[in-house]
Amino acid sequence: MKVLVATEKPFAAVAVDGIREVVENAGATLELLEKYTDRKQLLDAVADADALIIRSDKVDAEVLDAARQLKVVVRAGAGYDNVDLDAATARGVCVENTPGQNSNAVAELVFGLAVMMARNLYNGTSGSELKGKTLGIHAFGQVGRNVARIARGFEMNVSALDPYCPDNVMEEAGVTPVHSVQDLYRDNRYVSLHIPATPETRNSVGYDLVMLMPKGGVLINTARKEVIDEPGLMKALDERPDLKYVADIAPERAKEFEERFPGRVFFTPKKMGAQTAEANINAGIAAARQVVDFLRDGSAPYRVNR
Ligand code: 3PG
Repeated sequence: MKVLVATEKPFAAVAVDGIREVVENAGATLELLEKYTDRKQLLDAVADADALIIRSDKVDAEVLDAARQLKVVVRAGAGYDNVDLDAATARGVCVENTPGQNSNAVAELVFGLAVMMARNLYNGTSGSELKGKTLGIHAFGQVGRNVARIARGFEMNVSALDPYCPDNVMEEAGVTPVHSVQDLYRDNRYVSLHIPATPETRNSVGYDLVMLMPKGGVLINTARKEVIDEPGLMKALDERPDLKYVADIAPERAKEFEERFPGRVFFTPKKMGAQTAEANINAGIAAARQVVDFLRDGSAPYRVNR
C-alpha cells in the first residue's frame, strides 16, 4: 500500500517524521511530494497511491482520474473546499478532514493580526489596545471557539453568530449569542471570520455588512478569500477611511487593495494560520492515523463525502 503525502506547502519536518512512523508501522510505504510547482508532478505521483494526504492542495476530477488505485483522501486540516467531493464519491473515494487539529494555531494568528492592526502595522505611531473592545466571531466552530478562549485573556467583549451552534454552548464559553449577521457587524469593532467557503458563503461579506461596522472597525479573515465580495469591500474601505482589513489569505486583488489602502490592509504572503510545528504534528499525524484505519477496516469517522 502506498500513502502519498502531497503538500505544496510542506509540513514541518518533525510532523513528516511522525506521519512516516504511523504509515510504516502499519506496513505501508510513504511517498513525499513537497513544494511541487507543476500539477503534472501530482498527477504522476498519485498514479499508484492507495491513499493521499493533502493540505490545501487541489484534488479535482483530473487528479482523481489519474489516481487509479486511490481509496481515501485525508485533508490534514479543516476546510475541504479544495476537494471535489462529488467527483470523489463518483469514483468510490472516501474523503475525510481532521477537524480541530490545527484550530489553536489559526486562532493564535487571529490575535497576531489583530494586535498588528491595532498598533498600526508597528509603524511607530500610537495605536490602541484590544482590552475592552468588542469582538464578533463569525461562525463558532473549532477555530471560533479557540478565538473566544484567547479573547478572554485580552479582556475583550465577545459575541458570536452561528446558526448551527446552540446558544448555551456560546454562553458556557462566556460568549454572547447573536442571531443576525447585521447585528454581528454593527455591534463589533473587530469581526473575525471563520465561515467555510461554500456556495452559500461565497462573496457573502461585502459592502453592506462592512459598512455597518462601528468606527475603527477591523475585519480579520483567517478563513477563505472566497467568502469576501472584494469589489464591495473595496468600496467600503474607500468610503470609510477608518476601516481596516487583514487577511491570512490574500484577496485576488491584493495589489490593488495594498495600493489603494496603505496602512489599512495587510495580507500574509502565504496562508500560514495552520503553519506551526504543533498544528502540522496534530493534523498530519491525525491524517496518517485516519488513513491507516481506513485502509485496515474502512473506518472513516470524519468522512465528508457520501
Ligand atoms: C484549514 O482549512 O485547515 C486551514 O485553512 C489550514 O490550511 P493549510 O493546511 O493549507 O495551511
